[in-house]
Amino acid sequence: MQFIDLKSQQDRLKPGLDAAIEKVLSHGQYVMGPEVVDLEQALANFANVKFALGCANGTDALMLALMAFGIGPGDAVFCPSFTYSATAESIAVLGATPIFVDIDPTTYNMCPESLERTLQKTTSDGTLTPRAVIIVDLFGQTANYPLLAPIAQKYNLKIISDAAQSFGATLNGMHPSHWADIMTTSFFPAKPLGCYGDGGAVFTNDPDIKDILDSLRVHGRGIDKYDNIYIGLNSRLDTLQAAILLEKMKIFADEIDQRNHIANRYVKGLISQHVKTPSIIPGAISTWAQFTIEVENPDTLSQFLKNYGIPTARYYPRPTHLQTAYLQYPRDPNGLQITETVMKTVISLPMHPYLDESTQNSIIEKIKQSSDI
Ligand SMILES: Cc1ncc(COP(=O)(O)O)c(C=O)c1O
Repeated sequence: MQFIDLKSQQDRLKPGLDAAIEKVLSHGQYVMGPEVVDLEQALANFANVKFALGCANGTDALMLALMAFGIGPGDAVFCPSFTYSATAESIAVLGATPIFVDIDPTTYNMCPESLERTLQKTTSDGTLTPRAVIIVDLFGQTANYPLLAPIAQKYNLKIISDAAQSFGATLNGMHPSHWADIMTTSFFPAKPLGCYGDGGAVFTNDPDIKDILDSLRVHGRGIDKYDNIYIGLNSRLDTLQAAILLEKMKIFADEIDQRNHIANRYVKGLISQHVKTPSIIPGAISTWAQFTIEVENPDTLSQFLKNYGIPTARYYPRPTHLQTAYLQYPRDPNGLQITETVMKTVISLPMHPYLDESTQNSIIEKIKQSSDI
């Protein structure tokens, strides 16, 4: 059994993928070729945003966003700790200070009260300048932007949406770029929309920001590549990856529907058991990058399921603020209590659009049996 089944997806798309790859090999424009432009248009249409720009990966996408706002030493950027380390890394690598905010216990996304409290503390300390917040849409679900965005606006923060796990997710029919100044995503193979290597994208509705991002991803280029107007990155998206993503986009909406169908079956199957199933806020449609439950002893459950060939993963047993490289950074003055509670109980189950009913039933059955262990 696969935790994420990329092989079944490839079988479904094989002829189209082969033709798309062949086309790139024959035109030979391997970097920033025509497929990149087509993909950017398709991504912008899908996410209902004016501009989409490909880049090398989801971490660069975050860095490009921060760089577009000129964020660096002396600046504070607020972010969750309960996420992949790339979120805080993008801030720290630019010399700015990540300040960790706690999460909501039901959705695992940023807690508005914690954001406000942490902002008040940073402002009253007066040593760092609050500049931006990176709101992560964890496991495929958008954060509560209607509550978070007004707090960010009150403190004059730029909003960056880290949609690495959630490209395609909506809240009240709107994508995070409705609230965010810049939205970013990752096309790492395991993501809901993944390529066959590294890839990422940045999204914005602001034409001036779009021009800066477009320059920054190619060494801060000006009128041509020998004119440098910013210090930038080499962060282009390969044409082959764009061609692959264009093929995958043809079935992406259908795959999101499938993921939702599978998530609903999990919830129904597990609801009365000894597990806490995930909650979705009203009006939200998740892309279900992960189906994460909570149990008292996730390591015991993981081992039990492994004995029956059922793979699991744990996101995140050691959140970023507890990682050696990040111990020094500030956090919510009340501590990250929810983060440090759920890190002990979360465990993610196999989730992908090709999980058939009988396989899923066997997973649910084993989890039911695990109440006796
Ligand atoms: C929330 C989050 N942000 C950023 C990233 C970084 O993306 P990439 O691996 O494409 O650099 C990831 C990838 O795992 C992620 O899950």
